[in-house]
Amino acid sequence: MDAQIAVYVHLPWCVRKCPYCDFNSHAAPAAIPEDAYVAALLADLDGDLDLAAGREVASIFLGGGTPSLFGAPAIAALFRGVAERLPFAADVEITMEANPGTVEHGRFEAYAEAGINRVSLGAQSFDAKMLDALGRIHGPDEIGAAVGELRSAGIANFNLDLMYALPGQTREGACADLQSAIALGPAHLSQYQLTLEPGTAFFHRPPRLPDDDTALEMQLDCQRLLAAHGYAQYEISAYAQAGRQCRHNLNYWRFGDYLGIGAGAHGKATVDGAVIRTEKVRSPRLYLQGGGGMGGQRHPVPAGELPFEFMLNTLRLAEGFTLAVFERMTGLSAAAVLPTLRKLAGRGLMAESGETWVPTERGFRFLNDLQEAFLSDQTAVPAPRELYTAPSRFAPERDFRHIVSEMP
Ligand SMILES: C[S@@+](CC[C@H](N)C(=O)[O-])C[C@H]1O[C@@H](n2cnc3c(N)ncnc32)[C@H](O)[C@@H]1O
Ligand code: SF4
Repeated sequence: MDAQIAVYVHLPWCVRKCPYCDFNSHAAPAAIPEDAYVAALLADLDGDLDLAAGREVASIFLGGGTPSLFGAPAIAALFRGVAERLPFAADVEITMEANPGTVEHGRFEAYAEAGINRVSLGAQSFDAKMLDALGRIHGPDEIGAAVGELRSAGIANFNLDLMYALPGQTREGACADLQSAIALGPAHLSQYQLTLEPGTAFFHRPPRLPDDDTALEMQLDCQRLLAAHGYAQYEISAYAQAGRQCRHNLNYWRFGDYLGIGAGAHGKATVDGAVIRTEKVRSPRLYLQGGGGMGGQRHPVPAGELPFEFMLNTLRLAEGFTLAVFERMTGLSAAAVLPTLRKLAGRGLMAESGETWVPTERGFRFLNDLQEAFLSDQTAVPAPRELYTAPSRFAPERDFRHIVSEMP
């Protein structure tokens, strides 16, 4: 068991719901019940403390929804409450997701004072027409203004989220978006292909999107541009300047443990060698009514599902993994995955370099095939379907089973 643990906090409200978004996010009421929600979060955390006994907090991530809708006093109260319950690592990374449409002057200074030392801004695009088509509440200028606010608050460690393969977007348009993002000098860039998610407005009335071949060309163009500007790809959709990888997300992808508090949050913890998943009640109203903690569930992950769960995360990483890490993180023998890894290597989807196993470039392109190969304790790898896998976002408030059901 690691000496450290991460904490994910879900804040479920947004100014309005974007038509492409299937996160557990909801149009905010006239007044967000900030104090009641923070109290519920801390009660929720109390219920999870047994999972974190003897461990210190390496990172906290406030995700959403739009956490930047909460005022700094509520955020400061939340961190005080967490610190009363769990020790923080000296170099704790504390990230907040923010929407550029919600950051008036002075807001980031107050957040920094509360303890935020990393911000992830949802930029999505720098083209006013695209932002409009995506139903965003901000224009391109507000992204630049938000970055100015970040810099004046001394938060140089920030990420920009971009999406590509947008309605009517051209390859040139996708590159121009990325150029605009790079010009703002973020420490980190996340690039997601826009996907049509069940239950969203776009799913029911799909806009015309670039086809898969064009999306792949866009991705390759953008990867070249990012590399040329010193952003190294370390995960299927994440790029960073040297030393600026997101430690919180790296922990998910390395199959590390994390507590998940807030409406619909998911967590994972290893207790006495067993991997446990936690899941909190999804509706913000019911979550608040139950005062947090109530209605949460715990499920031990059956041993037969651990190879898939491990691979669902680690195969996203450019650094790959070693079998020793697989054994340590799952408690299983390497024999549970070695035959499958060898078959995938034979097909040119995985490569072995010394002790490390890494997806090949082709493997990354067909990541779903790779992950599916570990779905059960099957020894026969299913025939490759070679369906292009869009670089998508892994989010702990999304159920991993939902990701499986999304697989083509
Ligand atoms: C919780 S939001 C980030 C913060 C804030 N809510 C915002 O949108 O500005 C997480 C990110 O997921 C990405 N995302 C959401 N829905 C997506 C979809 N259908 N396809 C691709 N990326 C998506 C967007 O880039 C978004 O910034
Ligand atoms: S993309 Fe962000 S702002 Fe839009 S609904 Fe989803 S969580 Fe809210």
